[in-house]
Amino acid sequence: MKIGVFDSGIGGTTVFKEILKQDINAQFYYFADNKNTPYGIKNKEEVKNYIIKNIEYLVNVGCEIIVIACNTATILCIENLRKKLPNICFIGIEPAIKKAIENDNKKKILVTATTITLKEEKINNLIKNLEITDKVELLPLDRLVIYAEKNSSKIEVKKYLKEKLNKYKFNEYGQIVLGCTHFPIFKEEFKEILPNIKIVDGSKEVVKNLKNKINDMNLKKTNTCTTLILTKEDSEFIDNFNRLLNINIDTALYI
Ligand code: DGL
Repeated sequence: MKIGVFDSGIGGTTVFKEILKQDINAQFYYFADNKNTPYGIKNKEEVKNYIIKNIEYLVNVGCEIIVIACNTATILCIENLRKKLPNICFIGIEPAIKKAIENDNKKKILVTATTITLKEEKINNLIKNLEITDKVELLPLDRLVIYAEKNSSKIEVKKYLKEKLNKYKFNEYGQIVLGCTHFPIFKEEFKEILPNIKIVDGSKEVVKNLKNKINDMNLKKTNTCTTLILTKEDSEFIDNFNRLLNINIDTALYI
């Protein structure tokens, strides 16, 4: 069984980490488009082209299931990918707004993600349909993607977060949704700045969906191994990847 995990960069590790905690016997292919990251502030059509090309690579190496561990890529492409590649099982991730409302529908919710994600109609329609427009604030935090890629210092990250979060009256808020897979890398920094706010993300839901699909599809079990695929040579990326997942991959495929 071959499972692909896709992100624009290092952010997908926050989902992959949860996957690796499960007892899944599979050959994993983690694809990071580190040449083109960040996606969230680029032109939508340009980003869609990168995503389609990269997913095709994962299909060509034989992945039967592809986890799109990127909210931006999921919101932009998952429907098209499902139509275009009906034999592949796609599992995506979206900002966990529904989950947050189920947790608590009284206090306000701050939804953070990339600029592309927050501008998409799907997110805005969901908020309208759930009739929670007055309860939800949207905040793009694109620079966190770059900080995660560069493994920036805690001080730099906290300074940026404080600047961005400073305008909110947090006594009115109960939860913050981390709607970009890069953001949970800074969960500790969020917690330190907002100790009384619940942090919500969608990675556990992805794992649940993945396990269900594996059961349904009855795929052949293999010895677990991970191959890292990068679009640009970068040994620091590999170090960062190993550190975040607590594993020890020494090579990557550069395409
Ligand atoms: N990690 C991605 C997400 O979940 C994309 C970040 C980016 O490349 O801007 O949206």
